[in-house]
Amino acid sequence: MFNLNDIIRPNVLKMKAYSSARDEFKGSASVFLDANENSLGSLAGDKYNRYPDPHQRKLKARIAEIKSVQPEQIFLGNGSDEAIDLLFRMVCRPGQDSMLHLPPTYGMYEVSANLNEVALQAVQLTEDFQIPVEEVLINLKPTTKIIFICSPNNPTGNLIEPESISELLRAFKGLVVVDEAYIDFADARSWTSRLQEFPNLVVLQTFSKAWGMAGLRLGLAFASPEIIAVLDKIKPPYNINEATQELALQALEREEALKDMIEEIVQERELLLEALPDMPSVEHVYPSDANFILVKVTDPNGMYKYLLDKGIVVRNRSSLPGCEGCLRISVGTLEENQQLLQAIAEYN
Ligand SMILES: Cc1ncc(COP(=O)(O)O)c(C=O)c1O
Repeated sequence: MFNLNDIIRPNVLKMKAYSSARDEFKGSASVFLDANENSLGSLAGDKYNRYPDPHQRKLKARIAEIKSVQPEQIFLGNGSDEAIDLLFRMVCRPGQDSMLHLPPTYGMYEVSANLNEVALQAVQLTEDFQIPVEEVLINLKPTTKIIFICSPNNPTGNLIEPESISELLRAFKGLVVVDEAYIDFADARSWTSRLQEFPNLVVLQTFSKAWGMAGLRLGLAFASPEIIAVLDKIKPPYNINEATQELALQALEREEALKDMIEEIVQERELLLEALPDMPSVEHVYPSDANFILVKVTDPNGMYKYLLDKGIVVRNRSSLPGCEGCLRISVGTLEENQQLLQAIAEYN
């Protein structure tokens, strides 16, 4: 049985959250002299002289409606990268505990583990980029506190089979984090719909991809109210700035525009998936459920430099075990994709 208190670091279990000025006074007032702000105003524009709501109440209420969860099941971070870091700090004792990830995958799990002095256990994805569940189970140790699963996976682009994820959720006594940064581009249900079923499930999403808000830094973690309460306790008090909270609330009212944008990106992705295999320099094009495509080419370093000379930057992933020969290409606008295809067609 999963018991959250068994895995939380003892110091985190004991500590109290920082109590901000906004926490200590909740009534209405006209003169605010409690937070050492600049009462004269802001050089950056109206309102920004005041600290933002540390609990992001309005934003969480609206996200809860859209995502069909309770506000108490939502944590907001300064990008989902902040949530990844806080998850380590919540359950992994530096120098003692470990996490397990499944490369080739998103690099920040490893970076964040290293920063937090958390040992890394790596189980390579299978050739078709799925989870070798038995191998993961064999590798779990009493000190393993988190398993990171990225679905759709970056940089391979594919969804992970739900049955493998649920098997790990059932068997593992630590946190299973399913990173759904690219879920809006996939034809799949989010794992947020199964939070009630699995008390050890944490789902990560982000406003950086489909919502087009990478510059504003807003990431989400969905989990049980108990897990979210601990993340909220240990986060920096004002981690989501006022401009981001306001702009995200405005963006959330534009769900139709979001759908249109996703549709266009998926359409462009399908065109790239169709055109790329015909290019002589392309050896293999992997299927994609995301807004990027992994492409195996005959000469990845040569192709990378050649595209760069033409002003086109892609990601060279050819040195990653499992991605030998591969470039990762984000789906661009129609014009950008045509430029890319023409450049690749002319490569020899
Ligand atoms: C799988 C995955 N998770 C998380 C992130 C980070 O997202 P954010 O911009 O919310 O920090 C990325 C960014 O590329 C990603 O690929």
